[in-house]
Amino acid sequence: MIETDIDLQPHNTLAISARSAHFARVRSLDELREALVFARAKKLPILPLGGGSNIVLTGDFPGLVIQVDLRGLSLQAEANSHSIEAAAGENWHQLVMTTVNNGIGGLENLSLIPGKIGAAPIQNIGAYGVELCDRFMSLQAMEIATGELHDFGKDDCDFAYRDSVFKGRLRDQYIITQVNLQLPQEWLPRVDYPALQQYIVGHNWEIDSLTPIQVAQAVIDIRSSKLPLPDEIPNAGSFFKNPVVDTDLYQSLKAEHPDLVAYAAGEHWKLAAGWLIDRAGWRGLRRRAVGVHERQALVLINPGRGAGGELVQLAQDIAEDIHTKFGVYLEPEPRFYP
Ligand code: FAD
Ligand code: EPU
Repeated sequence: MIETDIDLQPHNTLAISARSAHFARVRSLDELREALVFARAKKLPILPLGGGSNIVLTGDFPGLVIQVDLRGLSLQAEANSHSIEAAAGENWHQLVMTTVNNGIGGLENLSLIPGKIGAAPIQNIGAYGVELCDRFMSLQAMEIATGELHDFGKDDCDFAYRDSVFKGRLRDQYIITQVNLQLPQEWLPRVDYPALQQYIVGHNWEIDSLTPIQVAQAVIDIRSSKLPLPDEIPNAGSFFKNPVVDTDLYQSLKAEHPDLVAYAAGEHWKLAAGWLIDRAGWRGLRRRAVGVHERQALVLINPGRGAGGELVQLAQDIAEDIHTKFGVYLEPEPRFYP
């Protein structure tokens, strides 16, 4: 069951070439437990893998990659909601399509996000005004140290913008095996996000008669117009988080750059990192195997399918330049390994 010296290039959407010392594809909880026993015996670090759409391989991985391929999906109508139980290895976008095709709303804003269900809670995936935590009920995860299964409710997960307890206090301690969601029986479209609103106005759609499938189609069209398909141009989506800054810094930047794109976030301001990188002149740049996408400057690309070092250097140069020009620190969104 455990393979050795495996090429990870087909397993990450940046198509970075790197090798893993060991690799296991697990299809059941027993197989997952066995893989953990193997890693423990050999004192190997573990990389739980979904679709590989949010990782940056900076070199070969000296441990065990566990591809979580647990399957199973159930959708149930309840008195006031629809409940979903999904195994970690199910595809996220297919789940969204299954719901909207059955007339069930709630996930449509999260259409076309690559990857597997098990990874969705890790960074609390979000898009077009909705985050996973808005629809999240609970999850089940296996403790890496013991092989025991534990349940986590919403409050246990510390969800925040692109963040959860699994990136913080419980980092590298659990493998998520199942995610349970709850979608409202009475659906209301969430179409405040500027690009979504413009699309709906542009298509003369009435908000009152919108359907979940229409909103999904709008999100898919908007995303397709600016985000590269990883199969065509390798990428990991947004390479940096949108930075959250205090009001003083926001106001001074806004005074200097009246067209700065920013959103109020409680008492702080979330700046569009894509705007900053674009304004700093990086959009469309190519440097050897890597570059900055020409239609979305927040997306770094690896068309030359090179090793991770070039990409990491480019990301560092961009972050330094943004700090020099705007006084803002950019933090990478994907996780770097090893
Ligand atoms: P992977 O890349 O395989 O893993 C990501 C992290 O989660 C790793 O640290 C991994 O170890 C961990 N992990 C994976 N599975 C498990 C598990 N079962 N248990 C424990 N840990 C696990 N993200 C958004 O939030 N919004 C977007 O709009 C968005 N758009 C994107 C567009 C493109 C074109 C791309 C390429 C990426 C985009 N992303 C977006 C990022 C990415 O799709 C999400 O983060 C997604 O949830 C990653 O899923 P994955 O299965 O590919 O995870
Ligand atoms: N912008 C520019 N130039 C660029 C890129 C963006 O001026 O090169 C401007 C846009 O015109 C727009 C603003 O910046 O006014 C925001 O751009 P966009 O709507 O494309 O969203 P984003 O902030 O760049 C975030 C998420 C995406 C998510 C979209 C939609 C983060 C880090 N990224 O991108 O998530 O799909 O909003 O909600 O929060 C991901 O996490 O991988 C990801 C793709």
